[in-house]
Amino acid sequence: MSTAAVIDATAPLLDVRNLSISFQGRRGQPSSNIIHDLNFSIKPGERVGLVGESGCGKSVTGLSLMRLLPGTAKIGGQVLLQDIDMAKANSKQIRRMRGKSIAMIFQEPMSALDPVFTIGSQISEALRLHERLPRAEERERVIEALAEVGIPAPSQRIDDYPHQLSGGMRQRVMIAIALINRPQLIIADEPTTALDVTIQAQIMELLTRLSEERGMAMLFITHDLGVVAETCQRMITMYAGQIIEDAPVDEALAQPAHPYTSGLLRSLPHFNHERGNFAYIAGRVPSPFMMPDGCRFAARCPHRIEGCDAPQALRDIAPDRRVRCWRSEDLRLNGAVDTAPAPMPEVIS
Ligand SMILES: Nc1ncnc2c1ncn2[C@@H]1O[C@H](COP(=O)(O)OP(=O)(O)OP(=O)(O)O)[C@@H](O)[C@H]1O
Ligand code: SF4
Ligand SMILES: [Mg+2]
Repeated sequence: MSTAAVIDATAPLLDVRNLSISFQGRRGQPSSNIIHDLNFSIKPGERVGLVGESGCGKSVTGLSLMRLLPGTAKIGGQVLLQDIDMAKANSKQIRRMRGKSIAMIFQEPMSALDPVFTIGSQISEALRLHERLPRAEERERVIEALAEVGIPAPSQRIDDYPHQLSGGMRQRVMIAIALINRPQLIIADEPTTALDVTIQAQIMELLTRLSEERGMAMLFITHDLGVVAETCQRMITMYAGQIIEDAPVDEALAQPAHPYTSGLLRSLPHFNHERGNFAYIAGRVPSPFMMPDGCRFAARCPHRIEGCDAPQALRDIAPDRRVRCWRSEDLRLNGAVDTAPAPMPEVIS
């Protein structure tokens, strides 16, 4: 076996270094800095949840990994996937990586599928980007892919058009398209938001099973911390374009290290239901045009003190934990699981 063929399981599959993203303003308008100095990695087969409030930059981050941002986006830093830097790759390299090494599932399957082509031809088209097979063999592969994502009677449904399928089935087709070339990393951006609760659970179960069976890594972008708890091993929390916490899921749930993560966990609907109250994080995410120099969460943080006006670095607090809050060791923050009765703010303000 050649040295190049040896896979180092401890080496990250994806290594994002100092990623920054800004969008050019329209004529005369300033640029907006949306993502600031993002550093994180994903190991082969690892499932990572990327969470945070609306507008914090989760989708922009996911799209940048696939190099799917519009031309107005300026990307800095590195997105290392295997031996390619996706931030600087040319169009030929990007075509080679998309589908085969990295693929993405979007929120709205109906707008992503073309209504005038059968689902079979759309899956075949994705397959043909990387592999040329005789027609009969190609059809067989597509039927297998449909069966794998749980489409009943796949040899008949292969000739259906998207409108002949339910929303849940269309999302399964999108998953089949994303997975047909066996990517090593899948980015799922709110893949179940448009679906009803039962179907959501089925789709998440399907993605988790496929990830486990294939050893496929997953970056799961969502608002739903409950789903992250059930499906992911690690949770990265973003706030205002920065990572503010990165931790194993069970540790983050029991003992968050950042006041924002704690606030998100205390806002979980099932937790509030059990407690009979409605905690939430008061205030808003600062505008990209008026970002504070110090801690970006300061205006909303109940633990803010004078020193919080200084810029906060993302610090290691354990071998597998990082936090962007200089007070984290002094604070005893509530998680989603109460380890000891602790006074809980009804409203965090
Ligand atoms: N093409 C674009 N041009 C300019 N600004 C953009 C563009 N796309 C996104 N943004 C801005 O980037 C910021 C982050 O957006 P993004 O879609 O990544 O948020 P998000 O965390 O995915 O939110 P949500 O949870 O609502 O999906 C927002 O302020 C958004 O307005
Ligand atoms: S640095 Fe200060 S304001 Fe920011 S999260 Fe920590 S305690 Fe709160
Ligand atoms: Mg989004």
